[in-house]
Amino acid sequence: SPNAIDASALKVTKTSKPMELVPKDKLVFGRTFADHMLEVDWDSKKGWRAPVIRPFGDLSVSPAASVLHYALECFEGMKAYKDASGCVRLFRPALNMARFNHSLARMYMPAVDGPTFLSLLRELLLLDEHWIPEGDGYSLYIRPTAISTTRYLGVGAPEEVKLYCITSPVGPYYATGFKPISLWADTHHVRAWEGGTGDAKVGANYAIAIMPQMLAAQHGCSQVLWMNRDTASGAYNLTEVGSMNLFVLIKDAVTGRPQLITAPLTRADVLPGVTRASILELAESMDGVDVKEACLSLQDVAKASAEGRLMEIFGAGTAAVVAPVNSIKYADESGTVKTVNVPSGGDAGPTAKKLWATITDIQYGRVDHPWSVKL
Ligand code: COI
Repeated sequence: SPNAIDASALKVTKTSKPMELVPKDKLVFGRTFADHMLEVDWDSKKGWRAPVIRPFGDLSVSPAASVLHYALECFEGMKAYKDASGCVRLFRPALNMARFNHSLARMYMPAVDGPTFLSLLRELLLLDEHWIPEGDGYSLYIRPTAISTTRYLGVGAPEEVKLYCITSPVGPYYATGFKPISLWADTHHVRAWEGGTGDAKVGANYAIAIMPQMLAAQHGCSQVLWMNRDTASGAYNLTEVGSMNLFVLIKDAVTGRPQLITAPLTRADVLPGVTRASILELAESMDGVDVKEACLSLQDVAKASAEGRLMEIFGAGTAAVVAPVNSIKYADESGTVKTVNVPSGGDAGPTAKKLWATITDIQYGRVDHPWSVKL
């Protein structure tokens, strides 16, 4: 179809000035970029143009481009891993492509054929293969992005879109073991709501999270615990943590059985994380743990903590895989700041550790698994 990207028309311009590789111990998340980028332009009249791989460099866009005014953009986050035999692997890339298309549709942007995009990404990764750092915890973070370059101040459908992809070598999220995070349960700001864009990976979701993140820091906490208040019951339902999905391991009040709980996707106020989906599927076959996608409130967690039933809390995402939580601070109705301490405290709990080990074993090809896709 005239609207599909033609991967066979790819034009590659190699850099004449390769950048110097940054030593592994100097890598800071998202600060270093590999030599090349992928770029594909689209407009509503002619559809997709020929894809281009060219040296990493600035874009030229109109100051009237609607991405700069109305945040018409979306993105993805995925990683390329080098296994012990030097093969490059992706982790469940089809899930990223499906979510990218969901986000594109929400921004009223054209769909991107997943296999075609992945074949172009493959060319980019082969060209910049030496930018994929080797070793456990190291990877090349991949950032597919779509922006509306439409030169129009009217609030309207994008007429011109630039699809591009940059990559960034990254090290382990935690240099030495797990570094537990403390959370500020924000009762004033909401990340996403039913019918909103919380289930799409759009830049606007992250823009509105930054100021609350600074408030969390003022309360001595490292991340925001995002909640949605149920107006009928007054329950503050937990949705996400920082830019990650949230998991709580709690003993059921009646049966005493451990339950791993994360917020459901049914209200579209939670991002359908690839790590989230993987944890749900892996935990399903773990002994002694029940898995549940269900609303869990701050009040539920405080009660479980008081009754000695709270076991573990952790965030889950592509960047960190799992991020253990050691405490939650919140202001009660009278404004008094209270703290819920997580018993696994200074370290990741056994369930978080087991899930982290299982997922990273798959990502680095240490075990054979269909989720790990060789380039
Ligand atoms: C994650 O991988 O957890 C993220 O959300 C990536 C972040 C840099 C936006």
